[in-house]
Amino acid sequence: MEYQQILNTINSELSGISNSGEVATYIPELATISPKKLGMHLYCINSGHYSFGNNEERFSIQSISKVFSLTMAMSILDDQLFRRVDVEPSGNPFNSLIQLEYENGIPRNPFINAGALVISDILISELKNPKKDFLDFVHNITENNSISVNQKVFISEKECSFRNAALINLMKSFGNIKNDIEEVLDFYIYQCAIEMSCKELATAFMVYANSGKKLSDTTQILSEQKTKRINAIMQTCGFYDEAGEFSFRVGLPGKSGVGGGIAAIHPGQYAVTVWSPPLNPKGNSELGMHALEKLTTLTGYSIF
Ligand code: DON
Repeated sequence: MEYQQILNTINSELSGISNSGEVATYIPELATISPKKLGMHLYCINSGHYSFGNNEERFSIQSISKVFSLTMAMSILDDQLFRRVDVEPSGNPFNSLIQLEYENGIPRNPFINAGALVISDILISELKNPKKDFLDFVHNITENNSISVNQKVFISEKECSFRNAALINLMKSFGNIKNDIEEVLDFYIYQCAIEMSCKELATAFMVYANSGKKLSDTTQILSEQKTKRINAIMQTCGFYDEAGEFSFRVGLPGKSGVGGGIAAIHPGQYAVTVWSPPLNPKGNSELGMHALEKLTTLTGYSIF
């Protein structure tokens, strides 16, 4: 497959698309990023790296971190984990409160904010040093110890996390948050504030494309069965109330973040990431969705 040629075609086609998206402003620090940034990176199991644009520039991974926290929680706990968080698409925005009330504080899935907050609570209970252990995990799967948290983004989100605070409080009232509310919020926001480049994210997501194993040294990070399950949750819940649309247009499991990143995988083939900050009304990168739709169209392969 001529991946570099395909990426070059995508790059030139994207410049002809009018981008109606808007950079996230509800976390003030994210609003300072240039809407013109655009990078893409494809890491193929058999043939290595392909890219264009700002693929080596770090950005705020935001909700893409939810895949890593779920991986850590699933590697520690078995199916009991899914008593506290379900695996159904929510059909609602990522920060919605409404279902939680009538579904007794059990979030629909681990990739909406409510679900990721429960996973953060679980990790606080299970880990000795949650922040350090989380960063160590990211360093391990990327083999890059320089990845870290952007303190400005961390502080910026902490100062305005009223909705996430509401979600935690509501879940605590149902008994589905065990630890201190502030501690859970702090750890969750920390994970979201990690910065990675498209290249680094593609390396991290290779684990999910490669049956749970790192490509470099074949270490099994997560069992094959659990990896399959995470990929299934990415397919059905990775894009909130646009998960159906992403499956329809792109046809790969993936996860988005309000920093404008999208990471997706083709199991057994490649991990691919795109970064373009302007978001569509559902909170997913406008150009990122176009880029990935073109990728699966031009290659002629998706998981469907
Ligand atoms: O909790 C929040 O609102 C952000 N830290 C993350 C949200 C996010 O990335 C949703 N993604 N599309």
